[in-house]
Amino acid sequence: MTGAAGFIGSHLCGALLDRGDVVVGLDNFDPFYPRRLKERNLAPLTARGLAFNEVDLRDAESLRGVIVEAKPDRIFHLAALAGVRPSMQRPAAYAEVNVTGTVHLLEAARSAGVRDVVFASSSSVYGNCSAVPFRETDACTEPISPYAATKRSGELLCGTWAQLFGMSIGSLRFFTVYGPAQRPDLAIAQFLARVSAGDPITLFGDGTTSRDYTYVDDVIRGVLAAGEVVAGAAAGSHRIWNLGGSRPVSLLDLVRKIEVVVGRSAEITWAPPQMGDVDRTCADTTRSHAELGFTPRVVLEEGLARQWTWYRQQR
Ligand SMILES: NC(=O)c1ccc[n+]([C@@H]2O[C@H](COP(=O)([O-])OP(=O)(O)OC[C@H]3O[C@@H](n4cnc5c(N)ncnc54)[C@H](O)[C@@H]3O)[C@@H](O)[C@H]2O)c1
Repeated sequence: MTGAAGFIGSHLCGALLDRGDVVVGLDNFDPFYPRRLKERNLAPLTARGLAFNEVDLRDAESLRGVIVEAKPDRIFHLAALAGVRPSMQRPAAYAEVNVTGTVHLLEAARSAGVRDVVFASSSSVYGNCSAVPFRETDACTEPISPYAATKRSGELLCGTWAQLFGMSIGSLRFFTVYGPAQRPDLAIAQFLARVSAGDPITLFGDGTTSRDYTYVDDVIRGVLAAGEVVAGAAAGSHRIWNLGGSRPVSLLDLVRKIEVVVGRSAEITWAPPQMGDVDRTCADTTRSHAELGFTPRVVLEEGLARQWTWYRQQR
């Protein structure tokens, strides 16, 4: 698995180890957020048998070496430069890791004879043009951030490699994932930390933008199910699935829920909308429900309470 030290990747490693799989994890500890947080994610996993390799997706030869040696039955490709706003500042870096890095990964899989791959894509590929709720059949031709464009490119590359080389690939569009070990740049992690400390939070826009927040355990159930479906699919197939909570919440409502969980009022600073941010996300999960058995179970209030409990234990 790539991105093993990250937020979603470390949860996925844990779930794979729980079911008795042999897991080989790759990550380069990208400095987008501190290495010590990623090492904290990894420590309990390596203690349980995760074989970890510090490898950069941009280093095609090293990547190939690790994958050829491991020769896994299946690859979960989660490593990426994530985050919409920072991609506006470093678009070339995002393209190198998320596009060229994905080509390297697909080529390494091919060299190692690995047919089955699950790729972490994003709801951001829908941009602002798709009708709500977002369906996998939408064209997704107008992403509005470099990050979204690199994720859509990754999906297209997966489709091409599946078709050209008889691979079986699933692309999963994650919708704003949250829970313990969430990336520190994301809104919920920021708001829990700042509101509890009595620090002001900045809200961009007028508070009406909305997100379809998805609890990480629900996402992991969907990722595991996708792995099974990909393994059973015909050579040459590429299928896209939404993994979203299907219950969008406005930014201001999110803050109100966080105030309840933390037991403290938020001091809000308002700022203009940010370039690259979409107005709303909302998953249509008809396909993922029918084909993956995906049903989100954890409602936002419950998920926030769990992330808050985790956050307090870390301090
Ligand atoms: N968190 C979300 O809400 C969300 C939503 C949509 C899609 N995604 C996608 O899910 C995946 C995991 O996201 P996350 O939130 O866990 O992010 P994360 O940043 O916590 O995890 C990504 C991991 O990839 C690693 N990485 C980055 N560049 C690398 C490189 N060049 N070589 C090897 N490893 C590299 C990082 O060190 C990090 O540990 C990403 O592909 C992301 O785009 C996440």
